[in-house]
Amino acid sequence: MIHPAELIQRKRDGGALSPDELRELVLGYARGEIPDYQLAAFCMAVYFRGLSSAETYALTEAMIASGETLDLGKALGRRVVDKHSTGGVGDKTSLAVGPIVAACGVPFAKMSGRGLGHTGGTLDKLESIPGFRVELSVAEFVQQVREIDLAIIGQTADLVPADKQLYALRDVTATVDSVSLIAASIMSKKIAAGADAIVLDVKVGDGAFMKTLADATILAETMLELGRHAGREVVCLLTDMDQPLGCAVGNALELREAVATIRGEGRPDFTELVLDAGARLLALSDLGVDVSGGRRRAEAALADGSALAAYERWIRAQGGDPDEDVLPRAPVVAQVEAARAGYVARLGATAIGLAALHLGAGRRAKDDAIDHSVGVVCRRKRGDEVGAGEVLAEVHARDEAGAAEAVRDVLAAYELGDEPPAKRPLVLDVLA
Ligand code: URA
Repeated sequence: MIHPAELIQRKRDGGALSPDELRELVLGYARGEIPDYQLAAFCMAVYFRGLSSAETYALTEAMIASGETLDLGKALGRRVVDKHSTGGVGDKTSLAVGPIVAACGVPFAKMSGRGLGHTGGTLDKLESIPGFRVELSVAEFVQQVREIDLAIIGQTADLVPADKQLYALRDVTATVDSVSLIAASIMSKKIAAGADAIVLDVKVGDGAFMKTLADATILAETMLELGRHAGREVVCLLTDMDQPLGCAVGNALELREAVATIRGEGRPDFTELVLDAGARLLALSDLGVDVSGGRRRAEAALADGSALAAYERWIRAQGGDPDEDVLPRAPVVAQVEAARAGYVARLGATAIGLAALHLGAGRRAKDDAIDHSVGVVCRRKRGDEVGAGEVLAEVHARDEAGAAEAVRDVLAAYELGDEPPAKRPLVLDVLA
């Protein structure tokens, strides 16, 4: 029988925990026998002291053991692919990539999470569609992937319940940005959900949990190692998150942008990441194509409408209506105008993420309801030229007071200069 306070103290003081101790702690928490406050203190101790690779592996195994596991390849007789981002601002990539991959005839099965800190979560974005169900049973999940090659679900009582609880706790206790906790959270979901090959998008920069390429590389290598241990093929893209991805930040707004991208009407930066991630997923599948062949197929799926058809099939299969008119709209839309002419030298992703969170797009406490309609649309991005008084961004708010505060916050997130800033590539590195 473990004593959680002693384990917390040992980790706080820099000691190591055994696999059995980590397992009992995580399983006890998942069963409701160890309270939130002790796990919150444990996560904070891990945040400051870190976990060794043996401890990170044991934590991941314990989280997987809190629920069932799936072998989708065996269940479907096909190679199944999955993708996950470490968390960013405006990152709606999975919503567009899933339908592209499915349209190419490759099964895509993903377990996602909700918003974390100032970053948005795929489940929250999907729940802006009235009726959309993120909590499918394991049998429904497998059946849907079999029938339409695509399902995105949340952690459930069946699959990685420990991550569902820990994730919500970390969101509101400033314990998200720890390499070991992120790696265990992501890889427990990926391994339990049973895909054979996984593309991880490791975000780097101001709006990411990893601020530098060096830290993001450590996170990527930790996840590659966990994937290898579990016999999965993993590719990590390290991508820029110094500014929001695409233009929309906020749940329904991001969903609209993802659908526009699937229609071929997306912003070039976001479309590029979607096509790159899609190409790499197709190259890992059983289609027998390399990355450039995958890229051609992904582009064709956007151009011929098959990705849009796959999106509509998927949303209906999970109980939603794919018609964009059913998405909620915020009652107040205010414009953020440039105080001077110039070039956008910087667009702070964290500041935009926090402005969206304060508008109601994210949670301050664990059980907070979120407002799916609110957020920010960045009409100008880094490097764009603007005239004085031109629109930089739009704020979508519940009321005038919230809009006025967000307009001030968004304006402060933009830095204007006289010269265009140096170009920064979106994909900074690829590790496998
Ligand atoms: N995404 C996850 O699923 N977990 C994390 O901890 C961070 C991003």
